[in-house]
Amino acid sequence: MSLIKEQDYGTPARSGEATVAVEIDGKRVRVPEGTSVMRAASECGIDIPKLCATDSLEPFGSCRMCLVDIDGRKGSPASCTTPVAEGMKVRTQTPELAELRRGVMELYISDHPLDCLTCPANGDCELQDMAGQVGLREVRYGFDGENHLDLPTDSTNPYFDFDASKCIACSRCVRACGEVQGTFALTIEGRGFDSKVAAGAGGTFMESDCVSCGACVQACPTSTLQERSVVELGMPNRTVLTTCAYCGVGCSFKAELRGDEVVRMVPYKDGKANEGHSCVKGRFAFGYASHPDRQLKPMVRERITDPWREVEWEEAIGHVARRMLEIQAGHGAGAIGGISSSRCTNEEVYVVQKMVRAAFGNNNVDTCARVCHSPTGYGLKQTYGTSAGTQDFKSVEKADVILLIGANPTDAHPVFASRIKRRLRQGAKIIVADPRRIDLVKSPHVQAEHHLRVRPGTNVALINAMSHVVVTEDLVDREFVAERCEDFADWERFISAPEHSPEAVEEITGVPAAELRAATRLYASAGNATIMYGLGVTEHSQGSTMVMGMANLAMATGNIGREGVGVNPLRGQNNVQGSCDMGSFPHELPGYRHVSDDVVRGTFETLWDRVLDPEPGLRIPNMFDAAIDGTFLGLFVQGEDIAQSDPNTKHVTAALSAMELVVVQDLFLNETSKFAHVFLPGTSFLEKNGTFTNAERRINRVRPVMAPKSGKHEWEIVCEIAQAMGYPMKYDDSAQIMDEIAMTTPTFAGVSFAKLDEVGSVQWPCDDAAPEGTPIMHIDGFVRGRGRFVLTDYVPTQERSTRKFPLILTTGRILSQYNVGAQTRRTGNTAWHPEDVLEMHPHDAEVRGIRDGDTVALTSRVGETGLRVKIDDRMPVGVVYTTFHHPVTGANVVTTENSDWATNCPEYKVTAVQVTLRHPAPAGMV
Ligand code: SF4
Ligand code: SF4
Ligand code: SF4
Ligand code: FES
Repeated sequence: MSLIKEQDYGTPARSGEATVAVEIDGKRVRVPEGTSVMRAASECGIDIPKLCATDSLEPFGSCRMCLVDIDGRKGSPASCTTPVAEGMKVRTQTPELAELRRGVMELYISDHPLDCLTCPANGDCELQDMAGQVGLREVRYGFDGENHLDLPTDSTNPYFDFDASKCIACSRCVRACGEVQGTFALTIEGRGFDSKVAAGAGGTFMESDCVSCGACVQACPTSTLQERSVVELGMPNRTVLTTCAYCGVGCSFKAELRGDEVVRMVPYKDGKANEGHSCVKGRFAFGYASHPDRQLKPMVRERITDPWREVEWEEAIGHVARRMLEIQAGHGAGAIGGISSSRCTNEEVYVVQKMVRAAFGNNNVDTCARVCHSPTGYGLKQTYGTSAGTQDFKSVEKADVILLIGANPTDAHPVFASRIKRRLRQGAKIIVADPRRIDLVKSPHVQAEHHLRVRPGTNVALINAMSHVVVTEDLVDREFVAERCEDFADWERFISAPEHSPEAVEEITGVPAAELRAATRLYASAGNATIMYGLGVTEHSQGSTMVMGMANLAMATGNIGREGVGVNPLRGQNNVQGSCDMGSFPHELPGYRHVSDDVVRGTFETLWDRVLDPEPGLRIPNMFDAAIDGTFLGLFVQGEDIAQSDPNTKHVTAALSAMELVVVQDLFLNETSKFAHVFLPGTSFLEKNGTFTNAERRINRVRPVMAPKSGKHEWEIVCEIAQAMGYPMKYDDSAQIMDEIAMTTPTFAGVSFAKLDEVGSVQWPCDDAAPEGTPIMHIDGFVRGRGRFVLTDYVPTQERSTRKFPLILTTGRILSQYNVGAQTRRTGNTAWHPEDVLEMHPHDAEVRGIRDGDTVALTSRVGETGLRVKIDDRMPVGVVYTTFHHPVTGANVVTTENSDWATNCPEYKVTAVQVTLRHPAPAGMV
């Protein structure tokens, strides 16, 4: 594919029923009311010169390059800021206009370094293009006068430079940072000749609030803001469209390459999840894919104390198959199993569960979603009938009130956070339920109406109290409930009981009753109210109950089944939705159908030519327990570092040590591979050919930009293991795997690579009834028929603060790092978060004699680790917070075995801990 250059229409599209007809250079065009003259011209193939306008930003009208003549109007207005009017006649090319434009361009060029031939943006510079377009041949003013050519370059950002000498003060970067990203880190300082772009209060990019999303770099028409990779590698010359491999937003990117080398990742304007935006991870943190730490040859060893021995693929695969069969011969068919990864494609995950069910002959397959969103699957299935979010991301643009619970989108789902912030700037309101004062409580142009500072572990009491207010203050949408739901009467009786009132639970949740009542009224009386939530909901002993509690609240208020409403999980990993869809849970075949369902199982038995086990297999924690008991001895782990990411590390490593065969398939040697007997090299997203399914059920293509560096695709390796174990499993390519998924999984019936290549992406269900996919679910009825109200008793977690462990630890993510950090730690992103730190309220620090930067011991009843303290009053008193991105910290050494009652999702968010001073910070740090 050659380099894809998307058309820039100059100003954003307008929508709406009303249209206007205009004539531009003799061409007639009809466009929506409010469209600019510039965009209308562009839509009929007429490009008006421009510099300060671009179609991702509202017009600004500062450069005066886009002047046009309009019949009946005086002067020459700027076409970017002039909206079309019915019957308008516009001329874009006259000798006078050409002269005006040349004059403007001459002024710009007279204050611009004339180093085009050596400039990294040569060939991709709008100033250069426009100079050519307006026919500038000479600059009459000379270059001797006052100019900006000696201004310095800011190279503090690890990925891009800011060369102020090339700046034309068009303000596109400033507007991109505000309008697109919503961070407002940049301003234009000074006036007239002295105008210049400033990051923060005139410091460097790294000192400012900049989050390195790159929107300004993308918007800059010159080489002022320039990716360093372009400077180093040169301009790219081909594009491959693909999908980000980090979070569940699932941003679409143009991977721009020079030869086989990725020069830059540019967010794709037609990507429905991101519409041309990105965050620092997707845009810049792709260097790990070619990091020298990658292990590209398979390795084998008999004992984990032996050194690794590099071997050929054939030997490694044969070894895995032989040892797995030996374990089964000695200990039974159920003594082995597999774990699939939410970082792998749907096709790669599908073959892992197929290998376990058909070749291993049991259902001992689980996925890393076990430890994040398994309660979402359970809770939404019970209430609505489907294990997925209800809306597309775009739907938030119609929300009047956003109830955000246990999620921190500006760090964990940054591109969706930018959409939320845009909607808030348009006037929507946000209620944040979170122990910490996250950015969406208060940041530039964001002020939450209510911040419900719920105590970790008491979410269910909170949501029940909100529903109590809805029921007792006559805020129920009775028509919706009567028409669409069941079991309401029982639930109404249950939830109206006085013990669920905000006053009764105030002591438990820590949320003042009056505030909770006010927040509920705001949610329940909004035209459209939507719930967005994250792992702060699911990773609790009552994670599933909380999901059902939110589903109840949305049904009771009629906030389901149209744009702007719904209940929406913000998924952690890129393909966590997909890995669940693909049948990675031990009780479910692809499409969330129980293994005990004879008809469903029969379909797979016929196709796979194997009798399948009708009993659910082991979940990840059961596998660990069984390993310690000596009954589970062989494990295949696809792309998940369970020894770092799963709770209670000591227990996990004891289980791994007890196994006879641990097979790790991954990019890098990791904490888990320390306990492995076989290492099989995996592929990065740049080598994969398949699909990811994002948090909005959107199936996106992942296209390879290069062949697998290890010589094999991951699905090929899995198929070869199955074959070596005696089960024939073969595909020509990953498109064939998707065809089998479509054949066996009703919600994917209409999906194929060809379809995705044609339409871009689809949201499941995609079938005969919805051939283009389903952006919003439950419109005319719930998937299960009627929405079901479920009683959600609040049961306090067993994990309590005590005299010995008086604080509660809660864990989460940070913007620049990702999960166990295997990828981001091997990129320039370490500039922002080189280590995990413990956030602590000033009061909790003071009473322990701890100062900012001190190293402390963090101890729970199961373990201890050490890390540095960051004192921050965004923490509530009594709660501390850390991330688990760095193995050296190993934060999960302290998390416990407590888990969700329905799904065993670990209770990462509540651990009773103590914090004690280990080493004071070196002088100068405090
Ligand atoms: S990189 Fe993003 S956050 Fe930073 S200044 Fe540019 S637009 Fe703003
Ligand atoms: S840095 Fe680029 S986008 Fe920003 S004002 Fe200068 S030329 Fe325009
Ligand atoms: S928001 Fe998520 S999917 Fe998008 S670029 Fe960032 S990490 Fe990738
Ligand atoms: S493009 Fe219209 S004034 Fe700059």
